[in-house]
Amino acid sequence: MEAPPAARNPDLPLSGRHVVLGVTGSISCYKAADIASKLRQAGAAVEVVMTPAATKFISPLTFQSLTGRDVVVDMFSTAEAEAHVEVARRADAFVIAPATADCLANLAHGNAADMVTLTALATTAPILVAPAMDNQMWEHPATQDNVATLRERGVEVVGPMLGRLATGRTGLGRLAEPAQVVGALRTLLGERTGDLRGRHVVVSAGPTHEPIDPVRFVGNRSTGKMGFAIAEAARDRGARVTLVAGPVALESPWGVHRIDVATVEQMLIALEQATADADAIIMAAAPADFRPANPADHKLKKADGQQGLTVELVQNPDIIATLAGGGVRVGFAAETRNLAAYAKQKLPAKRLDFIVANDVSAAGSGFGTETNEVIIIHSDGRTEELPLMSKHAVGHAILDRILDRLA
Ligand code: PMT
Repeated sequence: MEAPPAARNPDLPLSGRHVVLGVTGSISCYKAADIASKLRQAGAAVEVVMTPAATKFISPLTFQSLTGRDVVVDMFSTAEAEAHVEVARRADAFVIAPATADCLANLAHGNAADMVTLTALATTAPILVAPAMDNQMWEHPATQDNVATLRERGVEVVGPMLGRLATGRTGLGRLAEPAQVVGALRTLLGERTGDLRGRHVVVSAGPTHEPIDPVRFVGNRSTGKMGFAIAEAARDRGARVTLVAGPVALESPWGVHRIDVATVEQMLIALEQATADADAIIMAAAPADFRPANPADHKLKKADGQQGLTVELVQNPDIIATLAGGGVRVGFAAETRNLAAYAKQKLPAKRLDFIVANDVSAAGSGFGTETNEVIIIHSDGRTEELPLMSKHAVGHAILDRILDRLA
């Protein structure tokens, strides 16, 4: 497969990629329109090929409008000679979603029954299939054998998912959600061509909740967005990613190994294990510096505290300073004033290779925002001021500097 484009746009993770989307006949075809749209939004050039059965569920015009390109159903009706070979050759990846049982059987046996299976036979690009069918068809030994054959050949299989099926029954057979299909494709392309292939990157994200009693806690306003964006960026670049997350309301990025924790004590244990073989640790989490000394084992009632309540706090361990391993060590500094000066103090104390300082009181930066404006301070004193950018782009900027150090 070709190397990824040199000019990477962190906010368009599939820019420079030509993705061929194969659509076969299933009631879930409507989701394929969303997949095409999401691929475009991620920056990919998208070309759609369909089976005649798929056109009974959704019009080629829908895909033509979404992708800005002609849709090929009948290889003999296109202006392009040898359309199946030309489409297949253009592909950086071939995604078949939905893939019916019949499509899987044709793929497994090398049948060139239609434009979708013809393209699959003719391409050398990685293939990802997202099956969708009734659960009994999915569980049939013939389908399972076909899927095993495809997996052995290196075809990536996403889903099917458990849920409500067209028949009204619940079972394994639903097409994966469009975001999952796109996440799986980004993971696959990262694994094939990413510059962090073979590396293990550990990221922490979110706050910790230190219990006062079973219903109350000491915490902070971190949402996990910064850490999750870094994890996704590392995944896109082919790294094996472990994400240790405090209590946050975010979906796991596809392909990332997520470990949920609640307290600093749990985060420390999880990170000690995860960093044993890590090439890099990025501490984007906001662990609580203090925890209640004696958490109550029952809900504190107003009467318990009379007119008020005094909670004694003790200091939590400093996780990153405690960790022995981790490879390249990256910390964050969340400050509201004297940003660079405070961050510089943390650098040696936490034995970091570099620290990413953000002013959490500045507009568009810090907690809960989609963007961040950071200063990167290196252990040799070099300082880089980056402009306001998406958290995903900040993630890539951090990974670029990690890669330099790994090299
Ligand atoms: O999650 P978001 O809503 O997207 O917000 C992102 C963020 C503001 C939380 C993030 O960008 C950030 O600044 N994370 C670090 C928050 C923090 O705890 O900063 P600090 O200056 O208190 O700590 C310095 C470093 O030591 C951090 O890397 C921190 O993870 C680490 N630390 C802190 C305390 C502790 N007990 N153990 C630690 O390892």
